[in-house]
Amino acid sequence: MLTPSGLSAVTTALLAHLKAGDHLLMVDSVYGPSRAFCDKMLTQIGVEVEYYDPRIGAGISALMKPNTAVVYTESPGSNSFEIQDIPAICEAAHAGGAIVMADNTYGAGYYFRPLDHGVDISIHAITKYLCGHSDVMMGSITANEAAWHKTIAAHGTLGQTAGPDDVYLVLRGIRTLGVRLDRHMQTGIALARWLEARPEVKQVIHPALESHPDHALWKRDFSGACGLFSFVLNPCSEEALAAFLDNLDLYGMGYSWGGYESLIVPQDMTKYRTVTSGDFGGQLVRVHAGLENIDDLIADLAHGFSCMAAVGD
Ligand SMILES: Cc1ncc(COP(=O)(O)O)c(C=O)c1O
Repeated sequence: MLTPSGLSAVTTALLAHLKAGDHLLMVDSVYGPSRAFCDKMLTQIGVEVEYYDPRIGAGISALMKPNTAVVYTESPGSNSFEIQDIPAICEAAHAGGAIVMADNTYGAGYYFRPLDHGVDISIHAITKYLCGHSDVMMGSITANEAAWHKTIAAHGTLGQTAGPDDVYLVLRGIRTLGVRLDRHMQTGIALARWLEARPEVKQVIHPALESHPDHALWKRDFSGACGLFSFVLNPCSEEALAAFLDNLDLYGMGYSWGGYESLIVPQDMTKYRTVTSGDFGGQLVRVHAGLENIDDLIADLAHGFSCMAAVGD
């Protein structure tokens, strides 16, 4: 099922399977606007929303209630890249009679296939990699047989349809998905490794790096990594951060990742977390590695760091 944006795919899937009196288990590292929908709209119609630690794994069974209808996952977590143990979560959720949804925008249906791991409904912001050119907004909902009928009924009732010209552009984008994603992965890992060796950087958070706490889980379930990752700067002044970001030429400061161009955005996760910490001990910065030349992208970051050093701490 196609919807007019990634966020509308999230909201349509949730509305299709939740009603007043139901309990939703929502991952604490979820994409911010999905969280806002739960807090502002689902609670208003009488859904009980409970957040859980993305690293909970099979422990989710302790949070299951008789009225738990949906367990929602997003792996890796938005901006913080925790990998969830999806098969373990699916087993516990299904044992308790709930269905499992996954926001798989990161995996793009290419590096991770949620339905193969037990998920009932896979959601994509195809605005990102499937479109690939930052010029169309669209979402998709893919459901297994058990979850299909309720989902498609809500999709039609809510009128969440995508326009044919947009669909044409996404179909064209899909033709180059594989080559683009492999390049995004290669560049993302190169940038992450380069950043890991920089004195300005406290930590790089990239699931494909051995230093990532969930690297083994990522290797078990994913066949690759897209171009999105974060790093944490050693504590620095706002002026130093601004000097770094303002002096980058090749990285746009934009939110909607997955296109051909590289992006960089400072993030504050503390306001989006309730059961886990969003404090990384320094400024969190999210990078999207685009399709530009790798050496140019590294040289641009090096230039940004030299401008930062000129301002001082
Ligand atoms: C993980 C994730 N899910 C959903 C969305 C929403 O997609 P859209 O911008 O198409 O509404 C985004 C957008 O950034 C996202 O990062």
